[in-house]
Amino acid sequence: MSPFLLTRTLPEDATDAALRADVLSGLTRHPKTLPPKWFYDARGSELFEEITRLPEYYPTRAEREILEERSEEIAAVSGARTVIELGSGSSEKTRHLLEALTGLESYVPVDVSESALTGAAESLLVDHPDLSVHALIADFTGGLALPGTPGPRLVAFLGGTIGNLLPEERAGFLHSVRSLLSPGDALLLGTDLVKDEETLVAAYDDAAGVTAAFNKNVLSVVNRELGADFPLDAFDHVAVWNPEQRWIEMRLRARRALNVKIRELDLVVPFEAGEEVRTEVSAKFRQEDVREELAAAGLRLAQWWTDAEGRFALSLATAV
Ligand code: AVJ
Repeated sequence: MSPFLLTRTLPEDATDAALRADVLSGLTRHPKTLPPKWFYDARGSELFEEITRLPEYYPTRAEREILEERSEEIAAVSGARTVIELGSGSSEKTRHLLEALTGLESYVPVDVSESALTGAAESLLVDHPDLSVHALIADFTGGLALPGTPGPRLVAFLGGTIGNLLPEERAGFLHSVRSLLSPGDALLLGTDLVKDEETLVAAYDDAAGVTAAFNKNVLSVVNRELGADFPLDAFDHVAVWNPEQRWIEMRLRARRALNVKIRELDLVVPFEAGEEVRTEVSAKFRQEDVREELAAAGLRLAQWWTDAEGRFALSLATAV
C-alpha cells in the first residue's frame, strides 16, 4: 500500500488570524462584507452538504452528471498521471474521474479542512491501494507550493467555487494556477452558467430554509470564535441576482437597529435597521466569459462540456 502523506502548509493559528482580519476589515467598511470561506465550520459544511441535495440547488447534480458522462473523455484528453484537486472536500464527485484515468499514479487533494482530507483519503485508498495520496492542508487562494509529482498533471477546481471569488481574485487565482502548469498539464474548471433569474434565486433561497441557515451560520462562527453576540434571529437571509456583475449575492439584513459586540476585537459594530452584510457572491458565466478570463491568465480553453440542460459547464484549459 502506498503511503498516505498529509502536509500542513497553513500554520495552526493562521485560520484564527485570518478570521480576525477579515471580520475587522469587513464589518468596519460600508457596505459591510464577510468572506464566504467562514461558512464552513463543521456545522456549515453539513449544511452545505444538505444544500447539495435540495431540489432547487441544481449545480452539484449538473456537475456530477457531466463527470459521469464525460470522465472517459476527460481522462483520454488529459492523460494525467497526477490529479491535483483544489478545494477537494469529500472528493466524492472526483471519484469517477480518478477511476477513468488509467495511468493515474498520484492524487493531491488540497483543502483547508484536515478532517475532510483524511476522510477522503481513507475511503479512496480502500479501493485504490496503489494510488499515492499526498493531501495538503492549504488555502488555495494563497500561493501554492506543491509536492513533486509525475506529469502530465490535471489541476481540478470543481463545484463552481471560482464563482465565490471577486473578479480581481479570480484573475489572481487563475494566474497562480497557470504558474503551476508545465507543458502538457491542464486545468479542469467547473463553472455555473447564466440562466433565468427565477432558477438562480431559488437555488440560493430554498423553500426549506437550509440556505438561510447556512448563511446565518457565519454569524455563529464569529460568535463562537471571536466572542461576538450576533442575535441570529435579528437577521434575515437575502439572495439577489445582480445582472450587471452576473452574480448571485447572499446578504444578511438586520431587522432592526442594533449594536453587536465583538469581544476579541474590542469592537462594537452598529447596524441600522435594514442594513445588510454581503456574505457571498456566486458568479455565473457564459462560455465567452470563461474563455476570456482563462486567456487573460495565459490559459487556452480547449474543451467545454455541459450537462444536458446546459446549466453548468466543465472547461478543460491548457497553458498557452
Ligand atoms: C458550491 C461553494 C460554489 O456558490 O453555489 C451554496 C456555495 N452558497 N449555496 C455556490 C453555496 C450558497 C456554492 N459553492
